[in-house]
Amino acid sequence: MVNLTIDGKQITVSKTATIYEAAKHAGINIPVLCYAKKLLPYGACRVCLVEVEQMKGRLIPSCTTPVTEGMVVTTISDEIHKVRKTVLEFLLVNHVVECPVCDKGGECDLQDLTYEYEVVTNRFKGEKFDLPKDEINPLIERNMNRCVLCGKCVRVCDEVVGYGSYSFINRAKPKSRPLLTAA
Ligand code: FES
Repeated sequence: MVNLTIDGKQITVSKTATIYEAAKHAGINIPVLCYAKKLLPYGACRVCLVEVEQMKGRLIPSCTTPVTEGMVVTTISDEIHKVRKTVLEFLLVNHVVECPVCDKGGECDLQDLTYEYEVVTNRFKGEKFDLPKDEINPLIERNMNRCVLCGKCVRVCDEVVGYGSYSFINRAKPKSRPLLTAA
């Protein structure tokens, strides 16, 4: 077991826990998007950034960072709030903002975080895409105009289903929409 402090609270958790899991165990909420309990830690979205006293000078992703003995973690501060808001702006750079007509409106973690962090404008400009929906699979609808590259679909297919049918292409390639492609 490992002892650590999160937001001033003394916590004892298994040494295999991440900071996110330790905080959750203690009833402390850290926002997440790419994290999923059944999937391996991935660290794609960065909304779960926190400050660790022993790692001063940078914020670290709580969903991928294991706890260590004596760690002192802060999960919210003005700086963390500011950085998370910037992260959300980045995630929305190519994302179509159509929440009022989106069929997922009201049950979308990204929408909830956007409200919570008051992302009303975006300082970063990116191309919005109008790609056709992929509805070939009777069970899966893929709308790449809304993709924020959390990789959950790729990872579920790989780690849970065991097929590995989806993959990223064109990630970080300027002027082209990163796509998820089926093998
Ligand atoms: S939830 Fe931690 S990086 Fe996405």
